Amino acid sequence: MPSSREPAGPLTSLFRSLHRELDHLFLRAREALFERRLDEARELFEAWEDALRAHAALEEALILPRADRAVEAGRAAAVAIYSGEHVRMLELAAAARGAVAALAARAEPPSTRELIALFDEQGTIRRLADHHQAREENILLPALERGLPAAELEALVERCRLRQ
Ligand SMILES: [Fe+2]
Ligand SMILES: [Fe+2]
Repeated sequence: MPSSREPAGPLTSLFRSLHRELDHLFLRAREALFERRLDEARELFEAWEDALRAHAALEEALILPRADRAVEAGRAAAVAIYSGEHVRMLELAAAARGAVAALAARAEPPSTRELIALFDEQGTIRRLADHHQAREENILLPALERGLPAAELEALVERCRLRQ
């Protein structure tokens, strides 16, 4: 793992900011839910799930195949774990989106207990996403930056910028 004094490389910096945007969208969606602004919460949960899906697709297309080749042999198998976590996170995001849409479609407002239950359920994806993103930022992306020739890395950063 790189030392904290080492500045992050361009790919890691880009993905850090993409992760913070996803975190911010999820927070806004949960704030709207907490305040029972249900139509807005439904739209924000939809936007968050779409953004998470697009982000995972970007990594599946451009990051993970290269990481598989570039990352040291001992770690190559670990790349598959990221794909598995994408599948799990997208399942949980779809479930959260569906639960909020069901609440928003209902005539009566949610009780406090129902809201607490929903926030508890969302805790799983929040913790999984935090852990997943931290490993991408601290292990996977720095390893990819070390493993790629400079010109290839520069081209990859550009392609990621254009896709997102
Ligand atoms: Fe990821
Ligand atoms: Fe990511």
